[in-house]
Amino acid sequence: MDGRAVPIILDVDTGIDDALALALAVASPRVDLVTVTTLAGNVDVERTTTNTLAVLDWLGASSVPVHRGASRPLVRPHQDAAFVHGTDGLGNAELPISDRALGPTRGPAEIVRLANLRPGAMTLICVGPLTNLAIALNVEPRLPDLIDRVIVMGGAFSVPGNVTPAAEFNIYVDPEAAAQVFAAPFKQLIAIGLDVTQQVVLPRSMWEATTGATEAAPTLVSRICRRSFVERDLDAVQLHDPLALAVAFDPMLVGCIPAQVSVAIEGEERGRTRVVGPGSVAVASTVDAERFMRLFTEALALPGV
Ligand code: RIB
Ligand code: CA
Repeated sequence: MDGRAVPIILDVDTGIDDALALALAVASPRVDLVTVTTLAGNVDVERTTTNTLAVLDWLGASSVPVHRGASRPLVRPHQDAAFVHGTDGLGNAELPISDRALGPTRGPAEIVRLANLRPGAMTLICVGPLTNLAIALNVEPRLPDLIDRVIVMGGAFSVPGNVTPAAEFNIYVDPEAAAQVFAAPFKQLIAIGLDVTQQVVLPRSMWEATTGATEAAPTLVSRICRRSFVERDLDAVQLHDPLALAVAFDPMLVGCIPAQVSVAIEGEERGRTRVVGPGSVAVASTVDAERFMRLFTEALALPGV
């Protein structure tokens, strides 16, 4: 990985950890955040889109285009995670609402447009359900030849899920989309599952140390994580999406196994991801948690603890 910035499309369901991934993307000189696409996930697509605009404005990144995407999964009704992220999806932090316009194309169409505009250049990072990517694959079957790399925050391969014992949220919400994505012949598809993301957390002590901060990123952390620590009395906030983002510019953060991945669709197994043999998907099985936390805290100017 040379020192140049990685051109990234970030597909989000902004929520708390999505917002932290946006903050890392904006702060990192090794990221060229070309565009952000949104979809229904942690909360409905109107809120995930409003949240994404608000977070980018808060971070001084109002020049980054935002394109609204899927309003529900391919087949099923949408199921949110508002109990985790708050009714508004951002810990009920009530950030100022952005008044800027959305991009003129919808999320899947923007993924296809950029892939054709810059063939072989883009890294697509999906940190929500995989609905937008599945739709993009449907309308542009050549997408695997046009996108350089896909990084998915999703799945639970050797650990229990976080929605059911079988399934991680992003896969559970739209298993049909996930099955299509993991079956597509992408040149590089990296799966960052709970196996590694649950090992990187923002501890209560770090959040408490953001009290009184004045810079954009620490104050964002302070506001959107308050509900998790105060109302929900958590010890830590899991940094699922920031880790997936960081792998784009620091792939050595995780160790992967080459795998063929299956996704269960129905019943109690809905959303389970399994390694069913050798294949082309790089499933992350180990993480250098200390190195990631140094990178994350430095980029967001968070107090080390
Ligand atoms: O299971 C964790 C994932 O689901 C994260 O991306 C979180 O934001 C939710 O989308
Ligand atoms: Ca997410």
